[in-house]
Amino acid sequence: MKFVVCESYEELSQKAADVFALQIQKKPDSVLGLATGSTPLGFYAHLCKRYQEGALDFSKVNTFNLDEYYPISHTHAQSYHVYMEKNLFSHVNLQKENIHLPSGEAKDPNQAAHDYSLALQKVGGLDLQLLGVGHNGHIGFNEPNTSLELSAHVEILAERTRKANARFFACEKDVPSRALTMGLGEIFNAKKLVLLCYGKEKANCIQALKKGKITTQVPVTLLALHPDITVFCDTAAMQAKNADF
Ligand code: F6R
Repeated sequence: MKFVVCESYEELSQKAADVFALQIQKKPDSVLGLATGSTPLGFYAHLCKRYQEGALDFSKVNTFNLDEYYPISHTHAQSYHVYMEKNLFSHVNLQKENIHLPSGEAKDPNQAAHDYSLALQKVGGLDLQLLGVGHNGHIGFNEPNTSLELSAHVEILAERTRKANARFFACEKDVPSRALTMGLGEIFNAKKLVLLCYGKEKANCIQALKKGKITTQVPVTLLALHPDITVFCDTAAMQAKNADF
């Protein structure tokens, strides 16, 4: 596991974008796993800028997002469909048929999760996966639990996650209670992982990772087992002593 400690959010975003840019340049038909949330906003801004400068071509790239709330309309302002459209898809030349997100509108969410897994298998899995981490250590929407699922599935969101994400909604009760998420197995099958962790409220996640103790109650700790993971974090997170969850 490689840690890259950054002085600023800008540096973190730029360095993570470098990894993705290199991946696309080396393999134009890469399968990229994408994340949402506050942390990757600067990263997406960098990718868009590089595309606008002519340095990147997304025409053969396939994307698979980690997760989507359930139930949620794909036009809901807080859906990850809208987030991705706003922050990446509408700015670059990705082909519509190469963009994949779990459906927050499916009649049968379990079937939708299964279909999502199959679509990912069909393209041969992920080359490079972008990850953020929740305050409780969740990865994608794989919440702390006694066991974790390998494949895409429906997850009941933890109260702490709904509280944290309430900042994007009118109030906490508007945050959907479930989500469709890739499973840990699918994330782990990515050839390369990039984890972004910024801010002192995520310091516990960095400390837990550094400690090297693996527990499904803090899903981010499992990432220590991946053979090719780079963690981009800030000085505050790296130096903190707090490893409480
Ligand atoms: C979202 C996702 C989540 C977020 C996590 C952190 O696609 O996978 O695991 O990465 O909830 O979100 P922020 O960056 O808003 O703190």
